[in-house]
Amino acid sequence: MPLLRSALWLRDKAIDRTRRAFLAVLRAGPIPQHVAFVMDGNRRYARIKGMKVLQGHVDGFVALRRVLEICSTLDIKYVSVYAFAIDNFKRPKEEVDGLMRLAEKALLELCTHGGVLAEHGVRLNTVGKITLFPPEVQVALAKATELTKDNHRAVLNLCMPYSSRDEMTTAVEETIHDALLRGKNEPITEQDIEDHLLTAKVNSPPLDILIRTSGVNRLSDFLLWQCAENTQVHFIDTFWPDIGLLDLLPIILDYQRKIWSY
Ligand code: IPE
Ligand code: MG
Repeated sequence: MPLLRSALWLRDKAIDRTRRAFLAVLRAGPIPQHVAFVMDGNRRYARIKGMKVLQGHVDGFVALRRVLEICSTLDIKYVSVYAFAIDNFKRPKEEVDGLMRLAEKALLELCTHGGVLAEHGVRLNTVGKITLFPPEVQVALAKATELTKDNHRAVLNLCMPYSSRDEMTTAVEETIHDALLRGKNEPITEQDIEDHLLTAKVNSPPLDILIRTSGVNRLSDFLLWQCAENTQVHFIDTFWPDIGLLDLLPIILDYQRKIWSY
């Protein structure tokens, strides 16, 4: 038994050292400022493992914490995640209710003492139509935002309930409304619309990398305006709950190659 324990200890130590080496190598090169994730594949991950759907979402939350830690170590300043699409409200009631309960609990866990956002100095923004959420989730979001408002090292944009087309429609509406208020008959520019996007309201820089997990090659109404220019888009086969450093490593290296080739 002691032999087995020593072998496991040695294995863990070797894994930890390799991880640190990978991170140090990546940190030596240019680091993207803003990375976004379509966290996909929670239910298929659960199904394959014979778990309940909700356990897939719980493990997906653990993966989010892991990814935030990696991003923070790499000094990526802005991370945006597609946490809940407006369309997701059409899922079975039991799943939506479970996701709402998980969101409420997870938000506080992320932000309170010892949570990854508190630990790494990450400010939380919600990007989406939060009034569509049940009151308890809205309260948890307000609390989490308040708890992290003085964190300045990095930013997490939780996109929920979100859809790009909804964001763009609202931005166009607001732009027209503002133009009418100003009473000037000037043409509306791309910049006017961009200034009214939800991501502009939380001061997010241009999106450098968009990653979708689970082998699905679609953007599914996520940050469509934001990734129209100069964004590296990566579709990877790993299910979201399984994502780790080894998935991110080739993507960041690819980004660095692109920057160095300019
Ligand atoms: C993403 O995984 C979960 C959310 C962000 C709500 P899915 O629930 O879409 O899982 P699959 O894609 O059906 O496996
Ligand atoms: Mg999916």
